[in-house]
Amino acid sequence: MIEKINQLMAEIEGLQAKNAEDIEALRIKYLSKKGEISSLMADFRNVAAEQKREMGQRLNALKDAATAKINALKEQYQSEDHVDESIDLTRPAYPEEVGTRHPLSLVRQQIVDIFARLGFSIAEGPEVEDDWHVYGALNFADDHPARDMQDTFFIQQNPIVVLRSHTSSVQVRVMGEQKPPIRVVCPGRVYRNEAISARAHCFFHQVEGLYIDKNVSFADLKQVLLQFAKEMFGPDTQIRLRPSYFPFTEPSAEMDVSCTLCKGKGCAMCKGAGWLEILGCGMVDPAVLEASGIDSKTYTGYAFGMGVERIANLKYRVKDLRLFSENDQRFLDEFEAAK
Ligand code: DAH
Repeated sequence: MIEKINQLMAEIEGLQAKNAEDIEALRIKYLSKKGEISSLMADFRNVAAEQKREMGQRLNALKDAATAKINALKEQYQSEDHVDESIDLTRPAYPEEVGTRHPLSLVRQQIVDIFARLGFSIAEGPEVEDDWHVYGALNFADDHPARDMQDTFFIQQNPIVVLRSHTSSVQVRVMGEQKPPIRVVCPGRVYRNEAISARAHCFFHQVEGLYIDKNVSFADLKQVLLQFAKEMFGPDTQIRLRPSYFPFTEPSAEMDVSCTLCKGKGCAMCKGAGWLEILGCGMVDPAVLEASGIDSKTYTGYAFGMGVERIANLKYRVKDLRLFSENDQRFLDEFEAAK
């Protein structure tokens, strides 16, 4: 019996386990009712009386050693990396790469949201257009320089098909489809035949606005544009309207906002003027209303049009227009993550 005890003692000292099942198997093998140690205990009654004391102590020591070893294995298993050594469960998760919104999408959305809160709905129209929607219905004379090959990309000559050079064409589409009151903003891409440089591109983006109803006045236009400027550039922003000319509005104006950088004092961005030009606007010319079948004696309206790149430049101080269309990851990563 003493040999058996010594053998088990040695075995138990060297026990190892890879997982919880192993440990349980060892416990059953040594410590269960039918295990090795219990069967030794059963043999105990055959031990000679004078050896009982010593054997008893040795058996108890064996049982204690087995219990301690199995507990130690359990503890070790619980505290150690027992799942898969190649996985470090304490390591932080990999950061998810979240895409960013394109700055032009951000700014277009901001513009549209502001006007949506003021009651405007959104209208869109095709980029490939006929002469009537881009020029004819907007009161451009046949020999107006904007129709020139220099500005317009012609797709076809007879009948004329062009890439729209402004989103004012969507005004014409809306006036053809809806009856007043009409209150829409029309975001979209436009094309002009210009040499590509830091300051000009052959395509860019505009948001057009149109409001037609009874008794719409220039004061309404000014109020809406002031509200827009304050929401877009901050509550201290001021606006000024300078007389201008567009074939489709009468009177026409260009709107400046107080410089977003120097707040009107004069700096390099506003070239010392304190003001930055951001959009064209005016009262819809009665000839334009009539061309779309709207009675200009009953209805009046205002319109405005702005460049999205221009506003994005002022907000984010992008010096080179080409960055907007080159998809340079370093540039795009600077903008707000997609929500
Ligand atoms: N369509 C003009 C352009 O592309 C911008 C514009 C000016 C639109 C005045 C308007 C407006 O609706 O009233 O330069």
